Amino acid sequence: MCGIVGYAGYEPAAPFLLEGLQKLEYRGYDSAGIAVFSDKVRTMKSQGRLATLREKVDAAGGIPGSLGIGHTRWATHGAPNDINSHPHSSMSGRITVVHNGIIENYIPLKEELVSQGVVFRSETDTEVVAQLFDKLYDGDLVGTLIQVLGKIRGSYALGILCTDYPDTLLAVRKDSPMIIGLGEHENYIASDIPAVLDHTRNYYLLNDNEIAIIKADSVELLDMDRNPISRDVYVVDYDISAAEKGGYDYFMMKEIKEQPNALRTCIGSRIDGDDIRLDKIRLTEEQIKNIGRIHIVACGSAWHAGIVGKYVIEELTRIPVEVDLASEFRYRRPILRPNDLCITISQSGETADTLAALREAKANDVHVLSIVNAVGSSIARESDDVLYTMAGPEIAVATTKGYSTQLAVLYLIALKFGKIRQTISSKTEAKLRKALEALPEQIENMFADEEALKVLAKQHADKEHVFVIGRGIDYGASLESSLKLKEISYVHSEAYAAGELKHGTISLIEEGTLVVAVATQDQLYEKLVSNVKEVKARGAYVVAIVKEGCTDVEGIADQVFYIPDTDDIFTSTLTVIPMQLFAYYVAIERGCDVDKPRNLAKSVTVE
Ligand code: F6R
Repeated sequence: MCGIVGYAGYEPAAPFLLEGLQKLEYRGYDSAGIAVFSDKVRTMKSQGRLATLREKVDAAGGIPGSLGIGHTRWATHGAPNDINSHPHSSMSGRITVVHNGIIENYIPLKEELVSQGVVFRSETDTEVVAQLFDKLYDGDLVGTLIQVLGKIRGSYALGILCTDYPDTLLAVRKDSPMIIGLGEHENYIASDIPAVLDHTRNYYLLNDNEIAIIKADSVELLDMDRNPISRDVYVVDYDISAAEKGGYDYFMMKEIKEQPNALRTCIGSRIDGDDIRLDKIRLTEEQIKNIGRIHIVACGSAWHAGIVGKYVIEELTRIPVEVDLASEFRYRRPILRPNDLCITISQSGETADTLAALREAKANDVHVLSIVNAVGSSIARESDDVLYTMAGPEIAVATTKGYSTQLAVLYLIALKFGKIRQTISSKTEAKLRKALEALPEQIENMFADEEALKVLAKQHADKEHVFVIGRGIDYGASLESSLKLKEISYVHSEAYAAGELKHGTISLIEEGTLVVAVATQDQLYEKLVSNVKEVKARGAYVVAIVKEGCTDVEGIADQVFYIPDTDDIFTSTLTVIPMQLFAYYVAIERGCDVDKPRNLAKSVTVE
């Protein structure tokens, strides 16, 4: 999704802005631009990759000035072209704006401005902010901003320059992330910490409806009544190298390989002797005992984690669990009762639909416990309780370590709740805890199959359709495996509950169709083997993923990958590993940009 970066200091702003935008490339974008102020605001924009913008800036001999804003745009209103790229300036050139989010009422505002003689250049909702600001401007920068905010509706993170204030950068947010980086004789704004992480570890996290006035030597935060706000400095403690590629060709491979350590941190820090500590959540044992129903709400891979989580939580706690797509939950008037628990899951902590679903749950007085990776993100801040996944920054658009740590937190919740509700014995809990702790090393052992998966990817990279089938928890894991393949390699792939094949989909199986069969559930193993035989009989090429020891499948499937032995409820953490690697190598074979798949964004901050 779109990215914002801004600089107020004494050094040239343009190189800083370009570097910051490069760090935000992973969010996905289709055009980029920067505006720098010295004697006047000079703006350069370009459709396509950032490298094109960089070439333009270099060809012009750079842009003078030490105050500036930059933006990577992911088109929502108007085509991705140079004109619609941000920054956008008002007709007079006095106001220049970058914006993430959507101004929902931009059409009536634009019509009114046009009727007053304002000429628009772009098709964007953002230009309305610049033009409206200029129209209302009365010399009082903050006062005018407050007036503008009173008129616009929607979500926004805004960075604003005004030519009457040559040393000032203005920032404000509502429902879209924005942070203020605190440097020495320079300060920054960004939509995401990695953009400026090379320059500072100290941040103010801006909340909704807060205004920041940023100069080289000061940052002032105000509320909408212009009262000063004092804010603790948030210090980032993760390693800068964690946000860089570290020798891998793509972030995705680095993040696949980081999964064992990410899980060690996520699980290890919560296992204390023979107990599981769910950080300092406010949810009491009494409340846990009384939970009537759990609603897991999320999008994409986080939703897939939720589907596996449903099986695990229901199995260990006997609490009924509903899993909803956040985009559906928020509009379907869900039935929520006071003793229900809502678990929202989000890597970025900024997904617009998940945030809205969280608010829906809270509006119904339901306790919200969120599983989030990005510390200090909107979902984390608005939840009653947060369990961080501790995966470190995830840069590749396709999630890997984000997903596996989400699963791990769901396992921890299931174990802890099961113990409190006495739906599992201490002995079972201890056995499962041990199995959980073994997962990181088991994943490490599975990396030994990487070469074989690379060869398999070479053989099947030209396939147009791939089916992934499974039953029970394996079906949940199949959904994630299938998404990995389609999102980064653009191969059409579908996950199917294997028992459903006969109800329609099996008609699509023909000679050579690739079917991945995930069969790790002892109780369902034979049924899945029958499904494998059915698709084999229709010509499918079958790759089976089974537990070690299930060698009988070798005579049936064309190729078999084994996962180390673990309890049935934890297998999803392992079965997804070969599929992450397979998807990665198929994408490489097909010449795809693994980290930045087309049309996708890392953080989906609009609905
Ligand atoms: C797929 C992927 C997406 C995200 C989804 C939710 O690889 O990453 O499907 O899982 O957009 O994002 P978060 O977890 O940030 O809410």
